[in-house]
Amino acid sequence: MNRKVTVVGGAGNVGATVARSIAEKELADVVIVDIADQKAAGVALDILETCPILGSDSLVIGGSDYAQSANSDVVVITSGVPRKPGMSRDDLLNVNFNIMKAVTEQVVKYSPNCIIVPVANPLDAMCQAVYKLSGFPRERVVGMAGVLDSARMRTFIAQELRVSVENVHAFVLGGHGDTMVPLPRLSTVAGIPITQLLSQERIDAICKRTADGGAEITKLVGTSAWYAPGESAAEMVEAILKDKKKILPCSAYLQGEYGVKNQYLGVPVKLGAKGMEQIIEIKLEPEEQAALMKSAAAVKELVDVIRM
Ligand code: LAC
Repeated sequence: MNRKVTVVGGAGNVGATVARSIAEKELADVVIVDIADQKAAGVALDILETCPILGSDSLVIGGSDYAQSANSDVVVITSGVPRKPGMSRDDLLNVNFNIMKAVTEQVVKYSPNCIIVPVANPLDAMCQAVYKLSGFPRERVVGMAGVLDSARMRTFIAQELRVSVENVHAFVLGGHGDTMVPLPRLSTVAGIPITQLLSQERIDAICKRTADGGAEITKLVGTSAWYAPGESAAEMVEAILKDKKKILPCSAYLQGEYGVKNQYLGVPVKLGAKGMEQIIEIKLEPEEQAALMKSAAAVKELVDVIRM
């Protein structure tokens, strides 16, 4: 394989899911870097041993040494402490910020031209930290959140209407937290807005369940979700490596778009070989814009605490 993707924190649940998905799709060779050196080697070997079954020639290696990650095309950062039941994503701020400092330094040292996909929570604040600490242009630091949040919303819409998930597009903007902004007006089933298919009451319930989607899993499992978050990051990696120009909701550094300046927030972006190639700006209704501003303010509060 001539492409290389590193997953930092890859011995953890989310990271291992990202690594496995990339290997399964034969998108690139995969390097799992994790402070848990032996576990990283073991998880990598286990994934590698699935490849004959899957018909994939991706190489998968792992350990604690960043040297093996040198010259990666994409680095996914899943390091960090996950949530326990009852915790909000924001409760992880300081501990994960310190982890981002250590990780970003190594990533930049060994892969100065890579595209970084932060996944750790609180997501938008961690993106801001990685962006500022890396000194990379904003195109090369793009966070995973909206793909996950909209996958959850798509699941609930498809269940409610008993239609294929493939028919459902969901639109979620804003920060990856309690203030996220699901947009029913722009969420569609085979092109039909769900506002024409579902009652306001059902739509409200779906939006609320979407915003609470991470907490719902955390409560059931006892720790943060990993399958859907991992696949979401892998979808972003695929869009980048294949230069698909795919429009996906991601956390991007806004410089005036949507009326937000110098801050990460979830918006639709075009993902391709250069990373975040374009921010897609759409006209929002006043109440949608107000909800987005509220979400931006919530992210800014966190960013201010870590002074990024
Ligand atoms: C979630 C965590 C990963 O939403 O943020 O499941």
